[in-house]
Amino acid sequence: MNIRCAAPDDLMNMQHCNLLCLPENYQMKYYFYHGLSWPQLSYVAEDESGKIVGYVLAKMEEDPEDSVPHGHITSLAVKRSHRRLGLAQKLMDQASRAMVENFNAQYVSLHVRKSNRAALHLYTETLRFSISEIEPKYYADGEDAYAMRRDLKEFRDKVEFGLNADLDMLAVEGPQVDLVQQKTPE
Ligand SMILES: CC(C)(COP(=O)(O)OP(=O)(O)OC[C@H]1O[C@@H](n2cnc3c(N)ncnc32)[C@H](O)[C@@H]1OP(=O)(O)O)[C@@H](O)C(=O)NCCC(=O)NCCS
Repeated sequence: MNIRCAAPDDLMNMQHCNLLCLPENYQMKYYFYHGLSWPQLSYVAEDESGKIVGYVLAKMEEDPEDSVPHGHITSLAVKRSHRRLGLAQKLMDQASRAMVENFNAQYVSLHVRKSNRAALHLYTETLRFSISEIEPKYYADGEDAYAMRRDLKEFRDKVEFGLNADLDMLAVEGPQVDLVQQKTPE
C-alpha cells in the first residue's frame, strides 16, 4: 500500500471511490477545483497494482470568518475492502501536515454526520478532533452535522523545529504502508 499526493489523473478515481462510499457526492469540476487550487493538499491511498482504495479531498478555507488560516476536509473515504488498516488516519495526517507546510494552517475543520460512528471514532479518538458546533439539518436528508476541529500545533512545532514529521508522527502499528515524501508541484 502506498500513500501519495493526488495528481490530476487521480481525480476521476477519487470520485469513483467517493460514489462507492458516501452519499455526499460532487461534480467532477469540484474535484478539479480542489486539484487546481490546492494541489498539495489531497492524497490518495493505492494498492499494490496502483488502484485507488482511499482518498482525502482537502482545501484551505478561502475567507475564514475568524481570519485564521485553516484547512478543511471536504471528503474522506476508504474502500470497504481496505478499512481498519490505518489508511484514513495516514491520509488525514498527510493532508494536515501539507496544510501547515504550504499554507501555515493553524487548524483543520470538517463536518461529520452525527450517526457516523466509525468516522466519529476516527476523528475524536485517533486524530484528537473536538466538536466546535452542531449544525442542525446540515445534510440534504435532514441529518445534523458535528462541525469539528483539530489544532495543528503538533505539526507546526515539527515544521518549526525541523523534525521529521513522516517518521515521528505517521508511524503506526500495522501493515506496511509506504509514505512518499510530499513534493510541492512547481
Ligand atoms: C471512516 C473511514 C474513512 C475510516 O477509514 P479507515 O481507513 O478504516 O480508518 P483507519 O483504519 O485509519 O482507522 C483509524 C481508527 O479510527 C477508528 N475507526 C475506524 N473505523 C472504525 C469503525 N468502523 N468503528 C469504530 N472505530 C473505527 C479506530 O479507532 C481506528 O483505529 P483502530 O483500527 O486501531 O481501532 C471509513 O470507514 C470510510 O470510508 N467510511 C465511509 C466514508 C465516511 O464515512 N467518510 C467520512 C465522512 S465524514
